[in-house]
Amino acid sequence: MILQRSVCRNLNKFRNLYSFRQYSTIASTNENTLKIENIKNKLKDAPNLSEFIKLEQQKNTKIDEKDNGEVYIPPPYLRNSEITGEGRRVYVESYGCQMNFADTEVINSIMKSSGYQITDSDSNADVIFLNTCAIRENAESKIWGRLSELRAQKRKLKNGQLLVGVLGCMAERLKQKLLESEMKVDLVVGPDAYRSLPSLLSAIEDGEQQTAINVMLSADETYADIAPVRTSQNSVSAYVSIMRGCNNMCSYCIVPFTRGKERSRPVQSILEEVKQLSEQGYKEITLLGQNVNSYNYLEEEHHVENTEKRLPRDGFNTIYKSPKKGVTFTQLIDQVSLVDPEMRIRFTSPHPKDFPDDLLHLIKERPNICKSLHIPAQSGNSNVLKNMRRGYTRESYIELINTIRRVLPEATISSDFISGFCHETEEEHLDTLSLLEYVKFDHAFMFYYSLREKTHAHRTMKDDVPLDVKSKRLQQVVDTFYRVLKQNTHKEIGKKHLVLIDRISKRSDKHYIGRTDTNKKVIIPNHFKDSAEPINVGDYVLVEIEDGSEITLKGNPIMKSSIEHFQQYQHKKVMINEN
Ligand code: SAH
Ligand code: SF4
Ligand code: F3S
Repeated sequence: MILQRSVCRNLNKFRNLYSFRQYSTIASTNENTLKIENIKNKLKDAPNLSEFIKLEQQKNTKIDEKDNGEVYIPPPYLRNSEITGEGRRVYVESYGCQMNFADTEVINSIMKSSGYQITDSDSNADVIFLNTCAIRENAESKIWGRLSELRAQKRKLKNGQLLVGVLGCMAERLKQKLLESEMKVDLVVGPDAYRSLPSLLSAIEDGEQQTAINVMLSADETYADIAPVRTSQNSVSAYVSIMRGCNNMCSYCIVPFTRGKERSRPVQSILEEVKQLSEQGYKEITLLGQNVNSYNYLEEEHHVENTEKRLPRDGFNTIYKSPKKGVTFTQLIDQVSLVDPEMRIRFTSPHPKDFPDDLLHLIKERPNICKSLHIPAQSGNSNVLKNMRRGYTRESYIELINTIRRVLPEATISSDFISGFCHETEEEHLDTLSLLEYVKFDHAFMFYYSLREKTHAHRTMKDDVPLDVKSKRLQQVVDTFYRVLKQNTHKEIGKKHLVLIDRISKRSDKHYIGRTDTNKKVIIPNHFKDSAEPINVGDYVLVEIEDGSEITLKGNPIMKSSIEHFQQYQHKKVMINEN
């Protein structure tokens, strides 16, 4: 069918009526989605397709000057995505954790396959999405500030020329409130509803609605079939999302409310994505999930026959009932690490309860699974941990760390900490400092407690540590961490590491930045001392550490290497010229 462009643009209206029709069944289960009654009324009077085209052609005798007058449009029984977008530019700005950054790649993919163009600048965008975080109050304040800038940008343009959408965790947390705010937000879409972005957006673009919202959480959405459009600056490292959601309900945390229940992506789709990344030349992947090592994929047959439960590590508990045991994280990462022995595998963010011994032994055995483990402690005091509902004590956490040190002596360990949680006493806080001294973390994310509405702590506890005390304790945590870290980095001098080169240094184009297997940042000159062989981004280079006085190590590149070569070198099976 050949139609005028202006007519087919208006066909979106027709399509919207269709998508509303599908949508209304979903929407009727949730008071926060579209206004059902309005939609139903619209549907009553909706024309059929041929009536609609006739009406539109009568209205539009003038042909758009921009195009040649005639374009092909597929009939509307094809997917919504086939007839939207029209090259309009979408810019997605990401905030928060790596999961959000990975989601942005999924969003880009959805928008692109709906005919939108992805742009890396907000200045020429027709649509700006903020993919937001709600973890702490200041994460949200940042978004409010940005929304106010965008409101000013919208005012400068003619009405409707720029659409602003709030996606992600803050969208899920605040829902309708974002539309009711004074920020002129057009669209609000939660983390499990990104597939509906194109249809919601075009409903607004076509004037069917002024604003749109979909914040439905899902029990099974993993976006497994969507090939992410990579946004990473280099093509060395990529994220691979393997599970979503969180069942843990730590008393301070909003994530279970914004991300919904845990669900795992099918093994096969993960392996296929990893294979593709390896073929494209990626050298490092990070498996992602809110509780990445709680991965538990139940295949059909497991549902029927299996009675075995997936249990946490001894000494760790959950507040939820143990699920049936499916494909575990250990089994998954085993398969993932075999796809390409020269590709590094990392994973984040794990939960301490799901580090069984077989996982630690697998990490030891596989040279391409990185020896750097994130094991969020949150606090070093058992009573605070109990109030936080973390499901472990100081002792069981330390037992895990001791086991790791025994099995993986070279591994680096990182953590998250919250200072000033409800009822935390000075003495309890000191236990966190002593844990920092004991474990000697190589990396840490440190925060003070920020009350989140709806959480268990909000409902049952008092946020009774004054702000100045919270800040003071946080500062002590930070100081202790850096003091210990200094000792760790000093010990690196003289060691040899396999460094994967990530990028050219921002400070000097004569230097490269790379990372060790243990996730330490290393800066090296961009050439070898005694060889003209070039070093490139994406190369594995054997590096001797020369200076460890700063957090970033300084090293001297010795030779190009590989995971296999480095392993042989470590086992003294190959010699190198060290001059
Ligand atoms: N699933 C991960 C954490 C994801 S949230 C885990 O359990 O380790 C990232 C970190 O934000 C948490 O580890 C915690 O340290 C911090 N955090 C979460 N809620 C917070 C709150 N209300 N106030 C301050 N920090 C918080
Ligand atoms: Fe939040 Fe706890 Fe879940 Fe981590 S495990 S996302 S801290 S509720
Ligand atoms: Fe923030 Fe949501 Fe991640 S609250 S930390 S973006 S899961």
